[in-house]
Amino acid sequence: MATLNSFLMNPISRSTHLHRQFELTKATNFSKISSCLVSEKSQEKTLTPSNSKKAKEIMEMEAKYLVGTYARAPIALERGKGCKLYDVDGREYLDMTAGIAVNSLGHCDGDLVEVLVDQGNSLWHVSNVYYSLPQVELAKRLVDCSFADRVFFTNSGTEANEAAIKFARKYQRHITDVGKEPPREFISFSNSFHGRTMGAVALTSKEHYRIPFEPVMPGVRFLEYGNIEEAKKAVVSGKIAAVFVEPIQGEGGIYSATKEFLQALRTACDDAGALLIFDEVQCGLGRTGHLWAHEAYGIAPDIMTLAKPLAGGLPIGACLTTEKVAEAINYGDHGSTFAGSPLICKVALKVLDKIQDPMFLANVARKGLHLKELLSERLGGNRHVKEIRGLGLIVGIELDVPASSLVDACRDYGLLVLTAGKGNVVRLVPPLIISEDELEYATEVIKKCLPSLDAENKN
Ligand SMILES: Cc1ncc(COP(=O)(O)O)c(C=O)c1O
Repeated sequence: MATLNSFLMNPISRSTHLHRQFELTKATNFSKISSCLVSEKSQEKTLTPSNSKKAKEIMEMEAKYLVGTYARAPIALERGKGCKLYDVDGREYLDMTAGIAVNSLGHCDGDLVEVLVDQGNSLWHVSNVYYSLPQVELAKRLVDCSFADRVFFTNSGTEANEAAIKFARKYQRHITDVGKEPPREFISFSNSFHGRTMGAVALTSKEHYRIPFEPVMPGVRFLEYGNIEEAKKAVVSGKIAAVFVEPIQGEGGIYSATKEFLQALRTACDDAGALLIFDEVQCGLGRTGHLWAHEAYGIAPDIMTLAKPLAGGLPIGACLTTEKVAEAINYGDHGSTFAGSPLICKVALKVLDKIQDPMFLANVARKGLHLKELLSERLGGNRHVKEIRGLGLIVGIELDVPASSLVDACRDYGLLVLTAGKGNVVRLVPPLIISEDELEYATEVIKKCLPSLDAENKN
């Protein structure tokens, strides 16, 4: 990637930019990438796919052998270091996606690699039939630095939410008198995303994710995110088992809850005997500049779910609970073959060592403010930019048009960003180690690519 100075001195032109030295190929079958996860199918467009034989082979094999669930961007990535990614053609990208808020310490962090190799030479996996030290150490560490008393490990965010659903149901059954019906229903919110399995998807607001798979878990009511009055009326004693809420919504469009909203949910849950569950799978673990996003609000949940960044890119999830919930859970109520393996827990402990450092968190907060200032200063005047929002390094740029042409143009110029919401929000969730120069570079690329929005939406 060009340095910031050489980049600023050399305005982007399609013929001179480093990443454009490769021949443009008309891609005929690429779907529009409207989000990391969603495909708004089949508006054909010209992208800059990796065009080497190797890249083409990978894409052809993917098309032939994988179930077509992902509308992938047309680049094949091979390696990464820090905040940079490299494709199979050697092209360099500044990564403002971090594997969707996963690689918080960037790619191939030296300390994580060391722990991984060390533990890899010792013990990878043992069944949860046996004890292992890294698992209990990681649980203790999470308890010591949170509201929680106990931890259940999973392999992903959706599984952490499935665990939370089961624990909430079991808790309600446990405290309800024998012979009486326990509260069974759940509240979730507009723009929520909680995962893809049958319970978590039932709590996910986007119908497109849910309806093709119905019947999903019954008994979920969606309320407007932020609507205090509606929430107060809906959280009814004897009916609602738990309320699921993201303190900051990621996939839904980078919307932050207000303190009043979370406080109202806390009070309503306490009054009704329902559990308050914070899904911090995307916004948790340092991304906001606080270890946990809810610390910014001073309101604690009964259960919190985590995943994405917890082991720096290795698959892990966790469901953290208070003692009163954990008391309701017995042997055999839940389990997982892979969850909590020594290899992954050991890496997660190293991730926590680094992210928990108050200086690290203060830097995330400072860089987040800097990023929002840069974006407001440099993009704020554009007619398509409606709002720049977020906390720490989870930032959204809301547009009045679909963001996909901007995301594509940025990628052509070596910057990876995501979309969110209804496809009209550019989502920035970089590695938390990103430098101020890199944030400035990213802002300049986005600014220079803004005209792609006019080209795409001229009618
Ligand atoms: C808030 C939130 N919850 C749950 C999930 C699901 O996590 P996973 O993809 O690891 O199952 C996601 C994934 O994006 C998420 O953002």
